[in-house]
Amino acid sequence: MGLNQKVEMITGSGATPILVTGGAGFIGSNFVLDWLKTGGPVVNLDKLTYAGNPENLASVASNPAYQFVHGDICDAELVTALLRQHRPRAVVHFAAESHVDRSIVGPEAFLRTNIDGTFTLLRAAREYYDSVAGEERAGFRFLHVSTDEVYGTLTPEAPAFHEETPYAPNSPYAASKASSDHLVRAWVHTYGLPAIVTNCSNNYGPYQFPEKLIPLMIANALQGKALPVYGDGQQVRDWLYVLDHCRAIRTVLERGRVGETYNVGGGNQRSNLEVVTTVCALLDELVPESKFKPHRQLVKYVTDRPGHDRRYAIDARKLERELGWRAQESFETGLRKTVEWYLANAAWVKDVTSGAYQQWMAQNYAGRDAGGVSVAAKGRTIVASGESAR
Ligand code: NAD
Ligand code: DAU
Repeated sequence: MGLNQKVEMITGSGATPILVTGGAGFIGSNFVLDWLKTGGPVVNLDKLTYAGNPENLASVASNPAYQFVHGDICDAELVTALLRQHRPRAVVHFAAESHVDRSIVGPEAFLRTNIDGTFTLLRAAREYYDSVAGEERAGFRFLHVSTDEVYGTLTPEAPAFHEETPYAPNSPYAASKASSDHLVRAWVHTYGLPAIVTNCSNNYGPYQFPEKLIPLMIANALQGKALPVYGDGQQVRDWLYVLDHCRAIRTVLERGRVGETYNVGGGNQRSNLEVVTTVCALLDELVPESKFKPHRQLVKYVTDRPGHDRRYAIDARKLERELGWRAQESFETGLRKTVEWYLANAAWVKDVTSGAYQQWMAQNYAGRDAGGVSVAAKGRTIVASGESAR
């Protein structure tokens, strides 16, 4: 039996694929795995940067409903050819450079992928949309996955970001995402492309690359390494379990209004220090034999991130009211699942933290020691500047 016949058997003859970009990254791979459970075919275009990992999708690699394309969203010819060939019913656009610290060290790649890449996709999607008719045209959607960071920063008492909050991006990453959101808006208003933007808060869960706060703290704590908390650790983020985010995207894709923006948030505002100490408490419980217990003694305050946004919080009431979505995971249950996943997938962590990862860690953290103070979270005992927390 040929591949095409197999695809037809599994997906049904009328099944039309979606084109996902960045599906080998953290949120993208969770989304692809989740989407395939309901049988819909997926074409995944990913450049496999340091953040993209085909291992995340190893369980579906031989599923005929899944097709991986190794390529760049900035490659206009490739993107155009994929749209012509697969005639997807939607483009779900995750691909991006996503780490704020890396955008501070080297913004170029962020401008290229997040702005030029989104522009390339929009241009190709418009051409494709203009070439189709009937149901294919009526049902087509371009869903752009964006971030709450485009809204800037909040004071402790300020109301959460809502869809009308003015844009005020503060990091090169946030500025590049804000630019891409504006491009999407322009393509809706000028060319009538049926696009929708989602702006979500900090995700956490399985397959997150351990440069981001939660997986970094888990990986470091398990090795007895310092847990680098930027500044005073009182910055607040609004945590969203990744599968709740995936469900939100599906909901918006199915029922969201064209041209609209939907904020997605977990309703879990926590200071960074709270997050880190909660991770430590979970590790104390789940790894009772650890010689680094209590893990919170590894906390080390280091020099702050330049331009560090103080607080993010998302008002997701529009998505709840209009489309009936609600986050299902509490921060406590989601974080426990996440820590358990990292404990059960030590080989995955080992694989992604070799090689270039070590260079990044040295580059991002070495300089922070000099100006920082070390503080044991418990009792906030200040020890000498530059001293290891171990
Ligand atoms: P990630 O860094 O884990 O993954 C990004 C993926 O995009 C990787 O697989 C990478 O290989 C791919 N990619 C990068 N450049 C590419 C290019 N030029 N062409 C094709 N593929 C390319 O990111 P993530 O955390 O999964 O975030 C996904 C999306 O969600 C991003 O757009 C990000 O801005 C947004 N977002 C993330 C969060 C979060 O907390 N992680 C929160 C809000 C919004
Ligand atoms: O808000 C949504 C955004 O969340 C997404 O758009 C980004 O793609 C995603 O990376 C994330 O950005 P943050 O900068 O909030 O995530 P990060 O995990 O890098 O940091 C979370 C907080 O923890 C932030 O206040 C910085 C702090 N931090 C981070 C690291 C890596 C530390 O204190 N120490 C660290 O070593």
